[in-house]
Amino acid sequence: MKASIVVLPGDGIGPEVASAGVAVLRQIAERFGHDFTFTEHAIGGDAIDRFGDPLPPATREACLAADAILLGAVGGPKWSDPNAPVRPEQGLLAMRKLLGVFANVRPLKLHPRAAALSPLKPERTKGVDLVFIRELTGGIYFGAKTRTDDAATDECRYTVGEIERVMRHAFDLARTRRKKVTSVDKANVLETSRLWRSVATRIAADYPDVELEHQLVDSMAMHLLTRPADYDVIVTENMFGDILTDEASVLAGSLGLSPSASLGGPGAGVYEPIHGSAPDIAGKALANPLGTILSVAMLLRHSLGLSTEADTVEAAVDYVMENGNLTRDLGGDATTHAVTRAVLDACEAKA
Ligand code: NAI
Ligand code: MG
Repeated sequence: MKASIVVLPGDGIGPEVASAGVAVLRQIAERFGHDFTFTEHAIGGDAIDRFGDPLPPATREACLAADAILLGAVGGPKWSDPNAPVRPEQGLLAMRKLLGVFANVRPLKLHPRAAALSPLKPERTKGVDLVFIRELTGGIYFGAKTRTDDAATDECRYTVGEIERVMRHAFDLARTRRKKVTSVDKANVLETSRLWRSVATRIAADYPDVELEHQLVDSMAMHLLTRPADYDVIVTENMFGDILTDEASVLAGSLGLSPSASLGGPGAGVYEPIHGSAPDIAGKALANPLGTILSVAMLLRHSLGLSTEADTVEAAVDYVMENGNLTRDLGGDATTHAVTRAVLDACEAKA
């Protein structure tokens, strides 16, 4: 198949991991006879430096026309002055809004070799295999804001339509997995959460084969640490999801391992590792490329419909996790390039 893929390397280790992802996509294209074209565009701090805009018009146009978007990471100390007129993260928010990607999907799987690095005891992390779906374009982050000298407000607003579409995404995904959805809210206090819960219950009636449970966000924060293996698909609103996914990310043993996808818009999905630009290790070939490579597997599966190819990439990463020399964050001393090479070799062997 033909596909046009926009690559947004961004800042810090972003370009290092993005090029690892592109190398894997090129290899897959060659093995399976696909025609992928790659176009690089600026985002974040890099785009501010070159164009004075964290999401320049050329990047916007390319994203709107793409079949899929692979992103590295944005941000860094160079652009972190809170009084600066523009900030790298604005590029990310603007892109999500532009593409209408309302469902941020983050799978969390614990590989036995990484489990040893998890802050949780091995018996707690055994069998963890869950997916977070965070609503990404509504809620308090996008609500009206006011500020006077002695008070400030942030409005939290959700429409039935916004809740329905992300809820259907969660139930559709659960159907392909262990058929359980945990909907997280604060329905004992918040009106938006009571609406969230009632929509979840109504949508669940369309999925009699999927079990729905409701969980309050504060107890979810606890259960994520005490019984993470009990969850399958967890769906929640924007701010709760922001906090819970950061909590969940440390369970995997390294930030460098976890992929993400932002989906649901009319056009391209956005695929990126969950980590940031890691300025402390940028340019040193220490960055773990596996989170980006697993994001590439999600890109193949969700945007291009190539599930055999996606399985091939995931199996190759599993193989390297099992047998390979890994980067420093996972206790090895391999470079970004060497780990990428090992994945490419494993993809070839498995194709
Ligand atoms: P970070 O994720 O960049 O780094 C946290 C720690 O994890 C650092 O010690 C880093 O070296 C390590 N780490 C991260 N990714 C790694 C990888 N692939 N391999 C090995 N080690 C890795 O988070 P931090 O330091 O809080 O933020 C740095 C910058 O990144 C900030 O400007 C922040 O705003 C931005 N950021 C951007 C995100 C994005 O582009 N989606 C997400 C999170 C943060
Ligand atoms: Mg966050």
